Amino acid sequence: MRLNSLVLRNFRNYADCEIEFPDRVNLVVGKNAQGKTNLLEAIHFISTSKSHRTFLDDELIKHDDNWFYLRACIANSQNGDVCDVDEMKVEVSKELRGNKKFKVDGSVIPKISAWIGRFQVVFFAPESLSLVKGAPVGRRRFLDTLISQIDRSYLSQLQNYQVTLKQRNQLLKQIRPNYVEKSLLGPWDGLLAEDGVSIAKTRSSVIQALRIHACEKHENLSDNCERLDVVYRPSVGEVVDLPRDDAIKQFLAKLEGAHSTDSMRGTTSVGPHRDDFDLMVQGQEDSVFYEAKSYCSQGQQRTIAVALKLAELEVLREHSGSAPVVMLDDVLSELDSVRSKMLFDLLENLDVQTFITMTEMEMWLSPHKDCHIVRVQNGEII
Ligand SMILES: Nc1ncnc2c1ncn2[C@@H]1O[C@H](COP(=O)(O)OP(=O)(O)OP(=O)(O)O)[C@@H](O)[C@H]1O
Ligand SMILES: [Mg+2]
Repeated sequence: MRLNSLVLRNFRNYADCEIEFPDRVNLVVGKNAQGKTNLLEAIHFISTSKSHRTFLDDELIKHDDNWFYLRACIANSQNGDVCDVDEMKVEVSKELRGNKKFKVDGSVIPKISAWIGRFQVVFFAPESLSLVKGAPVGRRRFLDTLISQIDRSYLSQLQNYQVTLKQRNQLLKQIRPNYVEKSLLGPWDGLLAEDGVSIAKTRSSVIQALRIHACEKHENLSDNCERLDVVYRPSVGEVVDLPRDDAIKQFLAKLEGAHSTDSMRGTTSVGPHRDDFDLMVQGQEDSVFYEAKSYCSQGQQRTIAVALKLAELEVLREHSGSAPVVMLDDVLSELDSVRSKMLFDLLENLDVQTFITMTEMEMWLSPHKDCHIVRVQNGEII
Protein backbone atom coordinates (compact mmCIF):
# COMPACT_ATOMS: atom_id res chain seq x y z
CA MET A 1 0.00 0.00 0.00
CA ARG A 2 1.12 3.55 -0.52
CA LEU A 3 -0.28 6.79 0.77
CA ASN A 4 0.09 9.18 -2.17
CA SER A 5 -1.32 12.32 -0.60
CA LEU A 6 -3.00 13.61 2.52
CA VAL A 7 -5.22 16.61 3.31
CA LEU A 8 -5.75 17.74 6.92
CA ARG A 9 -8.29 20.40 7.87
CA ASN A 10 -8.77 21.49 11.49
CA PHE A 11 -7.05 18.31 12.66
CA ARG A 12 -5.05 18.90 15.90
CA ASN A 13 -2.71 21.85 15.15
CA TYR A 14 -3.19 21.61 11.33
CA ALA A 15 -5.60 24.28 10.00
CA ASP A 16 -5.39 23.45 6.30
CA CYS A 17 -2.60 21.37 4.88
CA GLU A 18 -2.02 19.28 1.74
CA ILE A 19 0.97 16.96 1.43
CA GLU A 20 2.19 14.58 -1.28
CA PHE A 21 4.41 11.62 -0.55
CA PRO A 22 6.28 10.76 -3.73
CA ASP A 23 8.90 8.48 -2.16
CA ARG A 24 8.96 5.34 -0.15
CA VAL A 25 10.90 6.60 2.88
CA ASN A 26 9.48 9.84 4.34
CA LEU A 27 11.33 11.68 7.07
CA VAL A 28 8.98 13.87 9.10
CA VAL A 29 11.32 16.47 10.56
CA GLY A 30 10.56 19.29 13.01
CA LYS A 31 11.26 20.66 16.42
CA ASN A 32 9.22 19.58 19.46
CA ALA A 33 5.49 20.39 19.45
CA GLN A 34 5.27 21.27 15.73
CA GLY A 35 2.87 18.50 14.57
CA LYS A 36 4.95 15.42 13.67
CA THR A 37 2.99 13.00 15.87
CA ASN A 38 -0.27 14.71 14.86
CA LEU A 39 0.49 13.92 11.21
CA LEU A 40 1.07 10.21 11.94
CA GLU A 41 -2.00 10.18 14.19
CA ALA A 42 -4.09 11.40 11.23
CA ILE A 43 -2.80 8.54 9.03
CA HIS A 44 -3.47 6.05 11.84
CA PHE A 45 -6.98 7.46 12.29
CA ILE A 46 -7.75 6.98 8.59
CA SER A 47 -6.58 3.36 8.85
CA THR A 48 -8.24 2.33 12.11
CA SER A 49 -10.88 5.03 12.81
CA LYS A 50 -9.14 5.53 16.15
CA SER A 51 -6.47 7.73 17.65
CA HIS A 52 -3.57 5.96 19.37
CA ARG A 53 -3.56 8.69 22.04
CA THR A 54 -7.16 9.33 22.99
CA PHE A 55 -10.58 7.67 23.05
CA LEU A 56 -12.18 11.10 22.64
CA ASP A 57 -12.34 11.89 18.93
CA ASP A 58 -13.42 15.48 19.72
CA GLU A 59 -9.90 16.12 21.06
CA LEU A 60 -8.66 15.74 17.48
CA ILE A 61 -10.59 18.84 16.37
CA LYS A 62 -8.42 21.95 16.27
CA HIS A 63 -8.91 24.16 19.32
CA ASP A 64 -11.73 26.71 18.84
CA ASP A 65 -13.10 24.86 15.80
CA ASN A 66 -15.99 22.43 15.61
CA TRP A 67 -15.11 19.93 12.88
CA PHE A 68 -12.16 18.19 11.23
CA TYR A 69 -11.70 16.66 7.80
CA LEU A 70 -9.06 14.26 6.46
CA ARG A 71 -8.59 13.01 2.91
CA ALA A 72 -6.13 10.38 1.75
CA CYS A 73 -5.36 9.02 -1.71
CA ILE A 74 -4.12 5.48 -1.31
CA ALA A 75 -2.63 3.24 -3.96
CA ASN A 76 -3.03 -0.47 -3.62
CA SER A 77 -0.25 -2.89 -4.34
CA GLN A 78 -0.17 -6.53 -5.26
CA ASN A 79 2.96 -8.63 -4.85
CA GLY A 80 4.99 -5.57 -4.03
CA ASP A 81 4.10 -3.53 -7.15
CA VAL A 82 2.23 -0.37 -6.30
CA CYS A 83 -0.62 0.10 -8.74
CA ASP A 84 -1.69 3.74 -9.12
CA VAL A 85 -4.67 2.75 -11.29
CA ASP A 86 -6.15 1.19 -8.17
CA GLU A 87 -6.00 4.47 -6.24
CA MET A 88 -8.82 5.05 -3.78
CA LYS A 89 -9.88 8.30 -2.14
CA VAL A 90 -10.80 8.06 1.52
CA GLU A 91 -12.46 10.95 3.35
CA VAL A 92 -13.04 11.16 7.08
CA SER A 93 -15.02 13.91 8.76
CA LYS A 94 -16.18 14.61 12.28
CA GLU A 95 -18.22 17.38 13.81
CA LEU A 96 -18.02 18.29 17.48
CA ARG A 97 -20.15 15.78 19.46
CA GLY A 98 -21.24 14.20 16.15
CA ASN A 99 -20.44 10.80 14.61
CA LYS A 100 -17.38 10.31 12.45
CA LYS A 101 -18.13 9.64 8.78
CA PHE A 102 -16.03 7.64 6.31
CA LYS A 103 -16.38 7.92 2.54
CA VAL A 104 -14.52 5.80 -0.01
CA ASP A 105 -14.45 7.19 -3.57
CA GLY A 106 -17.37 9.45 -2.69
CA SER A 107 -19.66 6.78 -1.20
CA VAL A 108 -20.50 6.84 2.49
CA ILE A 109 -19.46 3.67 4.36
CA PRO A 110 -22.54 2.81 6.48
CA LYS A 111 -20.55 0.68 8.95
CA ILE A 112 -16.96 1.78 9.63
CA SER A 113 -16.02 -1.85 10.42
CA ALA A 114 -16.43 -2.54 6.66
CA TRP A 115 -13.56 -0.12 6.00
CA ILE A 116 -11.14 -1.46 8.64
CA GLY A 117 -8.41 -3.61 7.10
CA ARG A 118 -8.49 -2.01 3.63
CA PHE A 119 -5.65 0.38 4.49
CA GLN A 120 -3.32 -1.29 6.94
CA VAL A 121 -0.65 0.51 8.94
CA VAL A 122 1.94 -0.72 11.41
CA PHE A 123 2.61 2.00 13.93
CA PHE A 124 5.49 2.24 16.40
CA ALA A 125 4.64 4.99 18.90
CA PRO A 126 6.44 5.68 22.19
CA GLU A 127 3.48 3.84 23.80
CA SER A 128 4.61 0.65 21.94
CA LEU A 129 7.46 0.28 24.44
CA SER A 130 4.88 -1.18 26.81
CA LEU A 131 5.07 -4.30 24.61
CA VAL A 132 8.40 -4.96 26.30
CA LYS A 133 8.10 -3.14 29.62
CA GLY A 134 4.39 -3.33 30.33
CA ALA A 135 1.81 -5.78 31.66
CA PRO A 136 0.72 -8.94 29.75
CA VAL A 137 -2.57 -7.28 28.73
CA GLY A 138 -0.68 -5.06 26.23
CA ARG A 139 1.08 -8.04 24.65
CA ARG A 140 -2.22 -9.94 24.39
CA ARG A 141 -3.85 -6.90 22.75
CA PHE A 142 -0.98 -6.65 20.23
CA LEU A 143 -1.38 -10.34 19.39
CA ASP A 144 -5.18 -10.27 19.21
CA THR A 145 -5.20 -7.19 16.96
CA LEU A 146 -2.69 -8.79 14.61
CA ILE A 147 -4.47 -12.16 14.46
CA SER A 148 -7.89 -10.56 13.97
CA GLN A 149 -6.53 -8.92 10.81
CA ILE A 150 -5.43 -12.22 9.28
CA ASP A 151 -8.03 -14.66 10.63
CA ARG A 152 -11.70 -13.61 10.67
CA SER A 153 -12.83 -16.62 12.75
CA TYR A 154 -10.37 -15.68 15.52
CA LEU A 155 -12.24 -12.50 16.41
CA SER A 156 -15.56 -14.35 16.86
CA GLN A 157 -13.86 -17.07 18.95
CA LEU A 158 -12.35 -14.36 21.11
CA GLN A 159 -15.68 -12.56 21.49
CA ASN A 160 -17.47 -15.85 22.39
CA TYR A 161 -14.72 -16.64 24.88
CA GLN A 162 -15.06 -13.22 26.56
CA VAL A 163 -18.85 -13.61 26.88
CA THR A 164 -18.50 -17.12 28.43
CA LEU A 165 -15.76 -15.89 30.76
CA LYS A 166 -17.94 -13.02 32.00
CA GLN A 167 -20.86 -15.37 32.63
CA ARG A 168 -18.63 -17.93 34.39
CA ASN A 169 -17.21 -15.19 36.63
CA GLN A 170 -20.73 -14.04 37.52
CA LEU A 171 -21.60 -17.61 38.48
CA LEU A 172 -18.41 -17.93 40.57
CA LYS A 173 -19.46 -14.88 42.56
CA GLN A 174 -22.77 -16.59 43.39
CA ILE A 175 -21.07 -19.85 44.43
CA ARG A 176 -19.02 -18.09 47.10
CA PRO A 177 -22.03 -17.18 49.30
CA ASN A 178 -23.55 -20.62 48.49
CA TYR A 179 -26.34 -19.18 46.33
CA VAL A 180 -25.70 -21.83 43.64
CA GLU A 181 -23.98 -25.25 43.30
CA LYS A 182 -20.41 -25.64 41.98
CA SER A 183 -21.67 -28.32 39.58
CA LEU A 184 -23.36 -25.56 37.53
CA LEU A 185 -19.91 -24.53 36.28
CA GLY A 186 -19.72 -27.62 33.99
CA PRO A 187 -21.35 -26.18 30.84
CA TRP A 188 -19.34 -22.94 31.12
CA ASP A 189 -16.10 -24.93 31.52
CA GLY A 190 -16.95 -26.87 28.36
CA LEU A 191 -17.57 -23.71 26.33
CA LEU A 192 -14.43 -22.01 27.68
CA ALA A 193 -12.29 -25.06 26.84
CA GLU A 194 -13.65 -25.31 23.26
CA ASP A 195 -12.92 -21.67 22.34
CA GLY A 196 -9.89 -21.43 24.64
CA VAL A 197 -8.07 -24.26 22.88
CA SER A 198 -8.77 -22.75 19.44
CA ILE A 199 -7.45 -19.38 20.65
CA ALA A 200 -4.31 -20.87 22.22
CA LYS A 201 -3.52 -22.95 19.11
CA THR A 202 -3.92 -19.93 16.80
CA ARG A 203 -1.83 -17.71 19.09
CA SER A 204 0.88 -20.35 19.18
CA SER A 205 1.17 -20.61 15.40
CA VAL A 206 1.14 -16.82 14.90
CA ILE A 207 3.80 -16.35 17.60
CA GLN A 208 5.97 -18.88 15.77
CA ALA A 209 5.70 -16.83 12.57
CA LEU A 210 6.25 -13.58 14.48
CA ARG A 211 9.26 -15.06 16.27
CA ILE A 212 11.09 -15.92 13.05
CA HIS A 213 10.74 -12.37 11.68
CA ALA A 214 11.31 -10.60 15.02
CA CYS A 215 14.55 -12.53 15.65
CA GLU A 216 15.84 -11.76 12.18
CA LYS A 217 15.01 -8.03 12.38
CA HIS A 218 16.43 -7.82 15.88
CA GLU A 219 19.70 -9.38 14.79
CA ASN A 220 19.95 -6.78 11.99
CA LEU A 221 19.05 -3.86 14.27
CA SER A 222 21.57 -4.85 16.92
CA ASP A 223 24.28 -5.24 14.25
CA ASN A 224 24.45 -9.01 14.96
CA CYS A 225 25.50 -8.34 18.56
CA GLU A 226 22.38 -9.67 20.29
CA ARG A 227 19.81 -12.41 19.85
CA LEU A 228 16.11 -12.26 20.65
CA ASP A 229 13.74 -15.06 21.52
CA VAL A 230 9.94 -14.88 21.72
CA VAL A 231 8.30 -17.62 23.80
CA TYR A 232 4.55 -18.17 24.12
CA ARG A 233 3.39 -18.81 27.70
CA PRO A 234 -0.16 -20.18 27.47
CA SER A 235 -1.83 -20.05 30.87
CA VAL A 236 -3.34 -23.53 30.38
CA GLY A 237 0.11 -25.06 29.96
CA GLU A 238 1.53 -26.95 26.99
CA VAL A 239 -1.76 -27.89 25.34
CA VAL A 240 -1.06 -26.35 21.96
CA ASP A 241 0.88 -29.31 20.55
CA LEU A 242 -1.71 -31.87 21.67
CA PRO A 243 -4.50 -33.11 19.37
CA ARG A 244 -7.57 -30.89 19.85
CA ASP A 245 -9.62 -33.38 21.90
CA ASP A 246 -6.72 -34.07 24.29
CA ALA A 247 -6.02 -30.35 24.60
CA ILE A 248 -9.68 -29.70 25.52
CA LYS A 249 -9.55 -32.51 28.14
CA GLN A 250 -6.41 -31.02 29.67
CA PHE A 251 -7.91 -27.53 29.73
CA LEU A 252 -11.09 -28.90 31.36
CA ALA A 253 -9.01 -30.69 34.01
CA LYS A 254 -7.25 -27.41 34.84
CA LEU A 255 -10.56 -25.52 35.08
CA GLU A 256 -12.04 -28.22 37.34
CA GLY A 257 -8.89 -28.30 39.46
CA ALA A 258 -9.29 -24.56 40.03
CA HIS A 259 -13.01 -24.64 40.99
CA SER A 260 -12.35 -24.07 44.71
CA THR A 261 -9.85 -21.24 44.33
CA ASP A 262 -11.85 -19.66 41.49
CA SER A 263 -15.05 -19.61 43.55
CA MET A 264 -13.15 -18.17 46.53
CA ARG A 265 -11.80 -15.36 44.35
CA GLY A 266 -14.86 -14.99 42.15
CA THR A 267 -12.76 -15.06 38.98
CA THR A 268 -11.37 -17.58 36.47
CA SER A 269 -7.66 -18.22 37.02
CA VAL A 270 -6.72 -20.20 33.87
CA GLY A 271 -7.30 -19.56 30.19
CA PRO A 272 -6.16 -17.39 27.28
CA HIS A 273 -7.21 -14.24 29.17
CA ARG A 274 -4.14 -14.94 31.34
CA ASP A 275 -1.71 -15.73 28.45
CA ASP A 276 1.55 -13.93 27.87
CA PHE A 277 4.67 -14.18 25.76
CA ASP A 278 8.21 -13.73 27.03
CA LEU A 279 10.82 -11.61 25.29
CA MET A 280 14.33 -12.86 26.03
CA VAL A 281 17.66 -11.44 24.90
CA GLN A 282 21.14 -12.91 24.73
CA GLY A 283 24.08 -10.51 24.46
CA GLN A 284 27.46 -11.36 22.93
CA GLU A 285 28.97 -12.06 26.34
CA ASP A 286 25.97 -13.98 27.72
CA SER A 287 25.74 -17.74 27.86
CA VAL A 288 21.95 -17.69 28.37
CA PHE A 289 18.92 -15.57 27.41
CA TYR A 290 17.71 -12.97 29.95
CA GLU A 291 14.22 -11.52 30.30
CA ALA A 292 14.15 -8.22 28.41
CA LYS A 293 11.68 -6.55 30.79
CA SER A 294 14.00 -6.93 33.80
CA TYR A 295 17.48 -6.74 32.32
CA CYS A 296 17.54 -4.79 29.05
CA SER A 297 18.58 -1.14 28.71
CA GLN A 298 16.23 1.51 27.28
CA GLY A 299 17.85 1.27 23.84
CA GLN A 300 17.69 -2.53 23.88
CA GLN A 301 14.00 -2.45 24.85
CA ARG A 302 13.28 0.01 22.05
CA THR A 303 15.14 -2.24 19.59
CA ILE A 304 12.97 -5.20 20.64
CA ALA A 305 9.72 -3.22 20.31
CA VAL A 306 10.73 -2.07 16.81
CA ALA A 307 11.71 -5.65 15.84
CA LEU A 308 8.25 -6.84 16.96
CA LYS A 309 6.53 -4.12 14.94
CA LEU A 310 8.54 -4.97 11.82
CA ALA A 311 7.72 -8.65 12.40
CA GLU A 312 4.03 -7.65 12.56
CA LEU A 313 4.49 -6.02 9.15
CA GLU A 314 5.95 -9.23 7.67
CA VAL A 315 3.17 -11.42 9.07
CA LEU A 316 0.54 -9.06 7.62
CA ARG A 317 2.38 -8.96 4.28
CA GLU A 318 2.56 -12.79 4.14
CA HIS A 319 -1.19 -13.05 4.66
CA SER A 320 -2.52 -10.25 2.48
CA GLY A 321 0.13 -10.17 -0.24
CA SER A 322 0.31 -6.39 0.15
CA ALA A 323 2.52 -4.55 2.61
CA PRO A 324 1.07 -2.13 5.17
CA VAL A 325 2.46 1.38 5.58
CA VAL A 326 5.00 1.59 8.41
CA MET A 327 5.06 4.59 10.77
CA LEU A 328 7.76 5.07 13.39
CA ASP A 329 7.25 7.96 15.80
CA ASP A 330 10.05 9.04 18.06
CA VAL A 331 11.88 5.80 17.43
CA LEU A 332 15.37 7.28 17.29
CA SER A 333 15.59 8.69 20.80
CA GLU A 334 17.65 6.30 22.93
CA LEU A 335 19.06 4.53 19.85
CA ASP A 336 22.75 5.13 19.21
CA SER A 337 24.00 6.04 15.73
CA VAL A 338 24.87 2.41 14.90
CA ARG A 339 21.39 1.12 15.70
CA SER A 340 19.74 4.15 14.01
CA LYS A 341 21.77 3.51 10.87
CA MET A 342 20.96 -0.21 10.93
CA LEU A 343 17.27 0.73 11.21
CA PHE A 344 17.51 2.97 8.15
CA ASP A 345 19.29 0.29 6.13
CA LEU A 346 16.57 -2.14 7.13
CA LEU A 347 13.75 0.27 6.21
CA GLU A 348 15.27 0.98 2.80
CA ASN A 349 15.39 -2.75 2.07
CA LEU A 350 11.90 -3.52 3.34
CA ASP A 351 10.19 -2.39 0.15
CA VAL A 352 7.37 -0.66 2.03
CA GLN A 353 6.33 2.97 2.46
CA THR A 354 7.70 4.35 5.71
CA PHE A 355 7.11 7.50 7.79
CA ILE A 356 9.64 8.25 10.48
CA THR A 357 9.74 11.30 12.73
CA MET A 358 12.87 13.07 13.93
CA THR A 359 13.71 16.42 15.46
CA GLU A 360 16.92 16.97 13.45
CA MET A 361 18.62 15.55 10.37
CA GLU A 362 21.47 13.49 11.75
CA MET A 363 24.92 13.17 10.18
CA TRP A 364 24.62 9.43 9.70
CA LEU A 365 21.59 10.03 7.46
CA SER A 366 23.68 11.53 4.63
CA PRO A 367 23.99 8.28 2.60
CA HIS A 368 20.19 7.95 2.59
CA LYS A 369 19.70 10.51 -0.16
CA ASP A 370 16.50 9.08 -1.58
CA CYS A 371 14.38 9.93 1.44
CA HIS A 372 11.59 12.46 1.07
CA ILE A 373 11.84 15.14 3.75
CA VAL A 374 8.61 16.54 5.19
CA ARG A 375 9.49 19.60 7.30
CA VAL A 376 6.84 20.38 9.88
CA GLN A 377 6.56 23.76 11.59
CA ASN A 378 3.64 24.94 13.68
CA GLY A 379 1.06 22.77 11.95
CA GLU A 380 2.32 23.53 8.44
CA ILE A 381 4.56 21.77 5.96
CA ILE A 382 7.36 24.12 4.93
N1 LIG B 1 -6.84 19.75 19.24
C1 LIG B 1 -5.74 20.49 19.12
N2 LIG B 1 -5.81 21.74 18.60
C2 LIG B 1 -4.71 22.51 18.45
N3 LIG B 1 -3.47 22.12 18.81
C3 LIG B 1 -3.34 20.89 19.31
C4 LIG B 1 -4.45 20.01 19.51
N4 LIG B 1 -4.01 18.85 20.03
C5 LIG B 1 -2.69 18.99 20.18
N5 LIG B 1 -2.26 20.21 19.74
C6 LIG B 1 -0.90 20.76 19.73
O1 LIG B 1 -0.20 20.27 18.61
C7 LIG B 1 1.18 20.50 18.85
C8 LIG B 1 2.02 19.47 18.17
O2 LIG B 1 1.84 18.20 18.78
P1 LIG B 1 2.65 16.92 18.32
O3 LIG B 1 2.38 15.89 19.33
O4 LIG B 1 2.33 16.59 16.92
O5 LIG B 1 4.15 17.43 18.43
P2 LIG B 1 5.48 16.78 17.86
O6 LIG B 1 5.94 17.57 16.67
O7 LIG B 1 5.28 15.34 17.66
O8 LIG B 1 6.50 17.07 19.06
P3 LIG B 1 7.57 16.13 19.84
O9 LIG B 1 8.84 16.23 19.06
O10 LIG B 1 7.69 16.80 21.14
O11 LIG B 1 7.00 14.76 19.93
C9 LIG B 1 1.34 20.56 20.36
O12 LIG B 1 1.79 21.83 20.76
C10 LIG B 1 -0.05 20.29 20.89
O13 LIG B 1 -0.34 21.02 22.05
MG1 LIG C 1 5.80 13.69 18.79
